[in-house]
Amino acid sequence: MKALILVGGFRTRLRPLTLCYPKPLVDFANKPMILHQALKAIGVSEVVLAINYQPEVMLNFLKDFEKKLAIKITCSQEIEPLGTAGPLALARDKLLADSGEPFFVLNSDVISEYPLKEMIAFHKSHGGEASIMVTKVDEPSKYGVVVMEQSTGKVEKFVEKPKLFVGNKINAGIYLLNPSVLDRIELRPTSIEKEVFPKIAAENKLYAMVLPGFWMDIGQPRDYITGLRLYLDSLRKNSPSKLANGPHIVGNVIVDETAKIGEGCLIGPDVAIGPGCVVESGVRLSRCTVMRGVRIKKHACISSSIIGWHSTVGQWARVENMTILGEDVHVCDEIYSNGGVVLPHKEIKASILKPEIVL
Ligand code: GDD
Ligand code: MG
Repeated sequence: MKALILVGGFRTRLRPLTLCYPKPLVDFANKPMILHQALKAIGVSEVVLAINYQPEVMLNFLKDFEKKLAIKITCSQEIEPLGTAGPLALARDKLLADSGEPFFVLNSDVISEYPLKEMIAFHKSHGGEASIMVTKVDEPSKYGVVVMEQSTGKVEKFVEKPKLFVGNKINAGIYLLNPSVLDRIELRPTSIEKEVFPKIAAENKLYAMVLPGFWMDIGQPRDYITGLRLYLDSLRKNSPSKLANGPHIVGNVIVDETAKIGEGCLIGPDVAIGPGCVVESGVRLSRCTVMRGVRIKKHACISSSIIGWHSTVGQWARVENMTILGEDVHVCDEIYSNGGVVLPHKEIKASILKPEIVL
Protein backbone atom coordinates (compact mmCIF):
# COMPACT_ATOMS: atom_id res chain seq x y z
CA MET A 1 0.00 0.00 0.00
CA LYS A 2 1.17 3.55 -0.78
CA ALA A 3 0.74 6.87 0.97
CA LEU A 4 1.30 10.35 -0.41
CA ILE A 5 2.05 13.18 2.00
CA LEU A 6 1.31 16.71 0.83
CA VAL A 7 4.38 18.56 2.02
CA GLY A 8 4.48 21.60 -0.22
CA GLY A 9 2.74 24.90 0.04
CA PHE A 10 4.53 28.07 0.83
CA ARG A 11 5.97 26.99 4.18
CA THR A 12 5.49 30.41 5.61
CA ARG A 13 3.26 29.62 8.55
CA LEU A 14 5.55 27.33 10.53
CA ARG A 15 8.63 29.32 9.64
CA PRO A 16 11.38 29.33 10.84
CA LEU A 17 11.08 25.62 11.71
CA THR A 18 10.31 24.68 8.12
CA LEU A 19 13.35 26.54 6.82
CA CYS A 20 15.62 23.68 7.84
CA TYR A 21 13.29 20.71 7.62
CA PRO A 22 10.19 19.85 5.61
CA LYS A 23 7.02 19.64 7.70
CA PRO A 24 6.95 15.82 8.00
CA LEU A 25 10.36 15.98 9.68
CA VAL A 26 9.54 18.82 12.06
CA ASP A 27 9.32 17.41 15.58
CA PHE A 28 6.07 17.35 17.45
CA ALA A 29 5.99 15.86 20.96
CA ASN A 30 9.58 14.64 20.55
CA LYS A 31 9.21 12.86 17.24
CA PRO A 32 8.96 13.93 13.62
CA MET A 33 5.42 14.38 12.34
CA ILE A 34 5.81 11.50 9.89
CA LEU A 35 6.31 9.06 12.79
CA HIS A 36 2.98 10.09 14.33
CA GLN A 37 1.28 8.96 11.16
CA ALA A 38 2.22 5.33 11.91
CA LEU A 39 2.09 4.27 8.29
CA LYS A 40 4.32 1.26 8.65
CA ALA A 41 2.00 -0.34 11.20
CA ILE A 42 -0.87 -0.56 8.72
CA GLY A 43 1.22 -1.98 5.92
CA VAL A 44 2.27 1.06 3.92
CA SER A 45 5.41 0.09 2.03
CA GLU A 46 6.17 3.35 0.24
CA VAL A 47 5.63 6.97 1.17
CA VAL A 48 5.70 9.58 -1.57
CA LEU A 49 6.51 13.06 -0.32
CA ALA A 50 4.94 15.65 -2.62
CA ILE A 51 7.22 18.66 -2.34
CA ASN A 52 7.89 21.83 -4.24
CA TYR A 53 11.12 23.07 -2.72
CA GLN A 54 14.64 22.13 -1.71
CA PRO A 55 14.62 18.41 -2.44
CA GLU A 56 18.41 18.24 -2.08
CA VAL A 57 18.12 19.35 1.56
CA MET A 58 15.55 16.67 2.17
CA LEU A 59 17.26 13.82 0.47
CA ASN A 60 20.00 13.73 3.08
CA PHE A 61 17.50 13.23 5.88
CA LEU A 62 15.40 10.81 3.98
CA LYS A 63 18.03 8.09 3.84
CA ASP A 64 18.13 8.18 7.64
CA PHE A 65 14.40 8.10 7.93
CA GLU A 66 13.99 5.27 5.46
CA LYS A 67 16.12 3.20 7.80
CA LYS A 68 14.35 4.28 10.99
CA LEU A 69 10.89 3.75 9.53
CA ALA A 70 11.79 0.76 7.39
CA ILE A 71 9.63 2.27 4.67
CA LYS A 72 10.67 3.35 1.20
CA ILE A 73 10.43 7.15 0.95
CA THR A 74 10.52 8.89 -2.40
CA CYS A 75 10.05 12.49 -3.45
CA SER A 76 7.79 13.76 -6.15
CA GLN A 77 8.95 17.26 -6.91
CA GLU A 78 6.82 19.97 -8.47
CA ILE A 79 8.36 22.71 -10.58
CA GLU A 80 5.51 25.01 -9.60
CA PRO A 81 3.17 24.49 -6.62
CA LEU A 82 0.42 22.19 -7.85
CA GLY A 83 -1.97 22.71 -4.94
CA THR A 84 -3.52 19.79 -3.06
CA ALA A 85 -4.66 17.70 -6.05
CA GLY A 86 -2.08 18.42 -8.80
CA PRO A 87 0.63 16.53 -6.87
CA LEU A 88 -1.46 13.35 -7.10
CA ALA A 89 -1.48 13.62 -10.89
CA LEU A 90 2.27 14.18 -10.86
CA ALA A 91 2.84 11.08 -8.71
CA ARG A 92 0.28 9.05 -10.68
CA ASP A 93 2.67 6.32 -11.82
CA LYS A 94 4.04 5.76 -8.32
CA LEU A 95 0.55 5.60 -6.85
CA LEU A 96 -0.74 3.22 -9.51
CA ALA A 97 2.17 0.83 -9.21
CA ASP A 98 0.17 -1.15 -6.65
CA SER A 99 -2.29 -2.51 -9.21
CA GLY A 100 -5.58 -1.06 -8.15
CA GLU A 101 -5.10 -0.77 -4.38
CA PRO A 102 -6.43 2.34 -2.65
CA PHE A 103 -3.79 4.74 -1.31
CA PHE A 104 -3.62 7.25 1.54
CA VAL A 105 -3.19 10.98 1.07
CA LEU A 106 -2.23 12.97 4.15
CA ASN A 107 -1.83 16.65 4.86
CA SER A 108 1.53 17.04 6.55
CA ASP A 109 0.45 19.43 9.30
CA VAL A 110 -2.27 17.49 11.08
CA ILE A 111 -1.97 15.74 14.41
CA SER A 112 -4.41 13.09 15.66
CA GLU A 113 -4.41 9.48 16.69
CA TYR A 114 -4.32 8.39 13.01
CA PRO A 115 -6.73 5.43 13.16
CA LEU A 116 -5.76 4.34 9.64
CA LYS A 117 -6.61 0.69 10.17
CA GLU A 118 -10.18 1.64 11.05
CA MET A 119 -10.21 3.86 7.98
CA ILE A 120 -9.27 0.95 5.71
CA ALA A 121 -12.14 -1.10 7.17
CA PHE A 122 -14.52 1.85 6.70
CA HIS A 123 -13.42 2.32 3.09
CA LYS A 124 -14.02 -1.34 2.30
CA SER A 125 -17.42 -1.27 3.99
CA HIS A 126 -19.00 1.55 1.95
CA GLY A 127 -17.76 0.70 -1.53
CA GLY A 128 -17.49 4.36 -2.60
CA GLU A 129 -14.57 5.92 -4.41
CA ALA A 130 -13.02 7.96 -1.62
CA SER A 131 -13.03 8.17 2.18
CA ILE A 132 -12.11 11.19 4.24
CA MET A 133 -11.76 11.67 7.98
CA VAL A 134 -13.79 14.44 9.57
CA THR A 135 -13.70 16.05 12.98
CA LYS A 136 -15.79 18.64 14.83
CA VAL A 137 -14.33 22.11 15.40
CA ASP A 138 -15.54 25.42 16.82
CA GLU A 139 -14.35 27.56 13.93
CA PRO A 140 -15.30 25.63 10.78
CA SER A 141 -14.77 28.54 8.37
CA LYS A 142 -10.97 27.98 8.45
CA TYR A 143 -11.37 24.47 7.03
CA GLY A 144 -13.17 22.31 4.48
CA VAL A 145 -16.69 21.72 5.82
CA VAL A 146 -18.42 18.40 5.26
CA VAL A 147 -22.17 17.77 5.42
CA MET A 148 -22.82 14.06 5.71
CA GLU A 149 -25.55 11.51 6.27
CA GLN A 150 -25.15 10.54 9.92
CA SER A 151 -25.93 6.83 9.59
CA THR A 152 -23.93 5.92 6.46
CA GLY A 153 -21.27 8.64 6.35
CA LYS A 154 -22.21 9.52 2.78
CA VAL A 155 -21.04 13.06 2.06
CA GLU A 156 -23.76 15.32 0.74
CA LYS A 157 -21.71 18.45 0.44
CA PHE A 158 -18.05 19.48 0.68
CA VAL A 159 -17.40 23.22 0.93
CA GLU A 160 -13.84 24.51 1.32
CA LYS A 161 -13.53 27.46 3.73
CA PRO A 162 -17.20 28.51 3.59
CA LYS A 163 -18.10 32.14 4.23
CA LEU A 164 -21.50 31.17 5.61
CA PHE A 165 -22.10 28.46 8.22
CA VAL A 166 -22.70 25.06 6.62
CA GLY A 167 -21.89 22.76 9.53
CA ASN A 168 -19.18 22.10 12.09
CA LYS A 169 -17.74 18.82 10.82
CA ILE A 170 -14.58 19.50 8.88
CA ASN A 171 -12.12 17.72 6.65
CA ALA A 172 -9.29 16.44 8.85
CA GLY A 173 -6.81 16.13 5.95
CA ILE A 174 -6.59 12.31 5.94
CA TYR A 175 -7.89 10.53 2.83
CA LEU A 176 -8.08 7.01 1.43
CA LEU A 177 -8.68 7.08 -2.31
CA ASN A 178 -9.34 4.53 -5.01
CA PRO A 179 -6.99 4.78 -7.99
CA SER A 180 -9.95 5.93 -10.13
CA VAL A 181 -9.80 9.29 -8.32
CA LEU A 182 -6.60 9.93 -10.29
CA ASP A 183 -8.65 9.96 -13.50
CA ARG A 184 -10.43 13.04 -12.18
CA ILE A 185 -7.26 15.07 -11.66
CA GLU A 186 -5.37 16.97 -14.34
CA LEU A 187 -1.67 17.78 -14.11
CA ARG A 188 -2.00 21.47 -13.25
CA PRO A 189 -2.29 23.54 -10.05
CA THR A 190 -5.58 22.37 -8.64
CA SER A 191 -7.30 21.87 -5.29
CA ILE A 192 -8.63 18.50 -4.15
CA GLU A 193 -10.94 20.32 -1.74
CA LYS A 194 -12.44 22.70 -4.29
CA GLU A 195 -12.32 20.74 -7.51
CA VAL A 196 -12.29 17.04 -6.71
CA PHE A 197 -14.21 16.27 -3.51
CA PRO A 198 -17.31 18.33 -4.38
CA LYS A 199 -17.64 16.35 -7.64
CA ILE A 200 -17.19 12.94 -6.03
CA ALA A 201 -19.74 13.98 -3.39
CA ALA A 202 -22.20 15.03 -6.10
CA GLU A 203 -21.95 11.48 -7.51
CA ASN A 204 -22.60 10.02 -4.03
CA LYS A 205 -19.21 8.32 -3.97
CA LEU A 206 -17.52 10.26 -1.17
CA TYR A 207 -17.80 8.94 2.39
CA ALA A 208 -16.66 10.43 5.68
CA MET A 209 -15.68 8.78 8.92
CA VAL A 210 -15.72 10.74 12.17
CA LEU A 211 -12.23 10.76 13.65
CA PRO A 212 -12.20 9.47 17.20
CA GLY A 213 -10.11 11.41 19.70
CA PHE A 214 -8.37 14.74 19.31
CA TRP A 215 -7.38 16.56 16.14
CA MET A 216 -5.47 19.74 15.33
CA ASP A 217 -3.95 21.40 12.27
CA ILE A 218 -0.59 22.41 13.76
CA GLY A 219 0.54 24.37 10.72
CA GLN A 220 0.65 27.62 12.72
CA PRO A 221 2.64 28.20 15.93
CA ARG A 222 -0.35 28.95 18.14
CA ASP A 223 -2.12 25.81 16.93
CA TYR A 224 1.08 23.79 17.30
CA ILE A 225 1.17 24.71 20.98
CA THR A 226 -2.54 23.93 21.40
CA GLY A 227 -1.97 20.65 19.53
CA LEU A 228 0.70 19.65 22.04
CA ARG A 229 -1.76 20.22 24.90
CA LEU A 230 -4.37 18.01 23.21
CA TYR A 231 -1.80 15.34 22.40
CA LEU A 232 -0.52 15.24 25.99
CA ASP A 233 -4.11 15.12 27.32
CA SER A 234 -4.69 12.08 25.17
CA LEU A 235 -1.44 10.48 26.42
CA ARG A 236 -2.69 11.06 29.98
CA LYS A 237 -5.82 9.07 29.12
CA ASN A 238 -4.28 6.32 27.02
CA SER A 239 -0.67 5.80 28.11
CA PRO A 240 0.03 7.84 31.24
CA SER A 241 3.30 5.99 31.85
CA LYS A 242 4.85 8.00 29.00
CA LEU A 243 4.40 11.23 30.97
CA ALA A 244 7.02 12.60 33.36
CA ASN A 245 6.49 12.50 37.13
CA GLY A 246 8.07 14.19 40.09
CA PRO A 247 7.92 17.17 42.39
CA HIS A 248 9.29 19.45 39.64
CA ILE A 249 6.57 18.47 37.15
CA VAL A 250 3.19 20.24 36.81
CA GLY A 251 0.45 18.72 34.60
CA ASN A 252 1.31 16.86 31.41
CA VAL A 253 4.97 16.84 30.39
CA ILE A 254 7.12 14.53 28.28
CA VAL A 255 10.87 14.42 28.69
CA ASP A 256 13.07 12.32 26.42
CA GLU A 257 15.09 9.83 28.43
CA THR A 258 18.36 11.33 27.16
CA ALA A 259 17.49 14.86 28.36
CA LYS A 260 19.02 16.19 31.58
CA ILE A 261 17.05 18.32 34.00
CA GLY A 262 18.84 20.31 36.72
CA GLU A 263 17.88 20.99 40.34
CA GLY A 264 15.02 23.22 41.34
CA CYS A 265 13.28 23.43 37.94
CA LEU A 266 9.52 23.75 37.58
CA ILE A 267 8.25 22.20 34.35
CA GLY A 268 4.73 22.13 32.95
CA PRO A 269 2.00 22.04 32.06
CA ASP A 270 2.10 21.01 28.41
CA VAL A 271 5.82 20.80 27.78
CA ALA A 272 7.88 18.51 25.51
CA ILE A 273 11.63 18.26 26.09
CA GLY A 274 13.45 16.46 23.29
CA PRO A 275 16.47 14.14 23.07
CA GLY A 276 19.82 15.39 24.31
CA CYS A 277 18.45 18.61 25.84
CA VAL A 278 20.11 20.11 28.89
CA VAL A 279 17.91 22.11 31.19
CA GLU A 280 20.05 23.72 33.87
CA SER A 281 18.94 24.43 37.43
CA GLY A 282 16.09 26.71 38.40
CA VAL A 283 14.51 26.84 34.94
CA ARG A 284 10.76 27.42 34.52
CA LEU A 285 9.06 25.94 31.44
CA SER A 286 5.36 25.95 30.58
CA ARG A 287 3.35 25.34 27.37
CA CYS A 288 6.40 24.95 25.23
CA THR A 289 8.36 22.61 23.00
CA VAL A 290 12.10 22.29 23.44
CA MET A 291 13.52 20.39 20.47
CA ARG A 292 16.47 18.02 20.23
CA GLY A 293 19.86 19.24 21.47
CA VAL A 294 18.69 22.49 23.11
CA ARG A 295 20.45 23.94 26.18
CA ILE A 296 18.48 26.13 28.57
CA LYS A 297 20.70 27.90 31.03
CA LYS A 298 20.06 28.61 34.72
CA HIS A 299 16.92 30.44 35.79
CA ALA A 300 15.61 31.00 32.27
CA CYS A 301 11.83 31.16 31.98
CA ILE A 302 10.06 29.98 28.82
CA SER A 303 6.32 29.92 28.17
CA SER A 304 4.07 29.49 25.11
CA SER A 305 7.04 29.15 22.77
CA ILE A 306 8.92 26.72 20.52
CA ILE A 307 12.70 26.39 20.88
CA GLY A 308 14.16 24.90 17.68
CA TRP A 309 16.86 22.24 17.43
CA HIS A 310 20.25 22.88 19.03
CA SER A 311 19.41 26.40 20.21
CA THR A 312 20.50 27.86 23.52
CA VAL A 313 18.62 30.15 25.86
CA GLY A 314 20.82 32.17 28.22
CA GLN A 315 20.66 32.54 32.01
CA TRP A 316 17.79 34.60 33.36
CA ALA A 317 16.38 34.98 29.85
CA ARG A 318 12.61 35.26 29.52
CA VAL A 319 11.11 33.84 26.35
CA GLU A 320 7.35 34.02 25.90
CA ASN A 321 4.21 34.80 23.87
CA MET A 322 4.73 32.59 20.77
CA THR A 323 8.43 33.11 20.47
CA ILE A 324 9.67 30.66 17.85
CA LEU A 325 13.41 30.04 17.59
CA GLY A 326 14.65 28.36 14.43
CA GLU A 327 17.46 25.83 14.46
CA ASP A 328 20.71 26.83 16.21
CA VAL A 329 19.60 30.18 17.63
CA HIS A 330 21.45 31.61 20.61
CA VAL A 331 19.60 33.86 23.00
CA CYS A 332 22.09 35.68 25.21
CA ASP A 333 21.83 35.95 29.01
CA GLU A 334 19.07 38.11 30.50
CA ILE A 335 17.36 38.72 27.14
CA TYR A 336 13.57 39.13 26.95
CA SER A 337 11.71 37.85 23.90
CA ASN A 338 8.05 38.75 23.52
CA GLY A 339 6.86 36.83 20.46
CA GLY A 340 10.10 36.98 18.49
CA VAL A 341 10.23 34.73 15.44
CA VAL A 342 13.92 34.11 14.91
CA LEU A 343 15.47 32.64 11.77
CA PRO A 344 18.03 29.82 12.08
CA HIS A 345 21.64 30.41 13.15
CA LYS A 346 21.08 33.82 14.77
CA GLU A 347 22.45 35.23 17.97
CA ILE A 348 20.01 37.41 19.90
CA LYS A 349 21.87 40.07 21.86
CA ALA A 350 19.08 42.61 22.33
CA SER A 351 15.61 42.05 23.76
CA ILE A 352 12.67 41.64 21.39
CA LEU A 353 9.97 43.75 22.97
CA LYS A 354 7.08 43.11 20.62
CA PRO A 355 6.18 40.22 18.27
CA GLU A 356 8.34 40.52 15.16
CA ILE A 357 10.44 38.48 12.77
CA VAL A 358 14.17 38.65 13.39
CA LEU A 359 16.04 38.17 10.11
N1 GDD B 1 3.00 19.34 -2.74
C1 GDD B 1 2.22 20.36 -2.43
N2 GDD B 1 2.07 21.37 -3.34
N3 GDD B 1 1.60 20.37 -1.22
C2 GDD B 1 0.82 21.44 -0.94
C3 GDD B 1 0.62 22.52 -1.83
C4 GDD B 1 1.30 22.47 -3.11
O1 GDD B 1 1.20 23.35 -3.96
N4 GDD B 1 -0.21 23.41 -1.23
C5 GDD B 1 -0.51 22.93 -0.02
N5 GDD B 1 0.11 21.73 0.17
C6 GDD B 1 0.03 20.87 1.36
C7 GDD B 1 0.35 21.57 2.67
O2 GDD B 1 1.73 21.44 3.00
C8 GDD B 1 -0.52 20.80 3.67
O3 GDD B 1 0.12 19.61 4.10
C9 GDD B 1 -1.73 20.40 2.83
O4 GDD B 1 -1.32 20.47 1.47
C10 GDD B 1 -2.93 21.31 3.06
O5 GDD B 1 -2.55 22.63 2.78
P1 GDD B 1 -2.72 23.79 3.86
O6 GDD B 1 -2.18 25.03 3.24
O7 GDD B 1 -2.22 23.38 5.18
O8 GDD B 1 -4.30 23.92 3.85
P2 GDD B 1 -5.28 24.33 5.02
O9 GDD B 1 -4.78 23.91 6.33
O10 GDD B 1 -5.63 25.77 4.84
O11 GDD B 1 -6.59 23.47 4.63
C11 GDD B 1 -6.49 22.09 4.40
O12 GDD B 1 -6.40 21.38 5.61
C12 GDD B 1 -7.55 21.47 6.48
C13 GDD B 1 -7.28 20.61 7.68
O13 GDD B 1 -6.15 21.02 8.32
C14 GDD B 1 -7.73 21.62 3.62
O14 GDD B 1 -7.51 20.28 3.26
C15 GDD B 1 -9.00 21.75 4.45
O15 GDD B 1 -10.10 21.19 3.75
C16 GDD B 1 -8.82 21.00 5.75
O16 GDD B 1 -9.97 21.16 6.58
MG1 MG C 1 -3.01 23.20 7.12
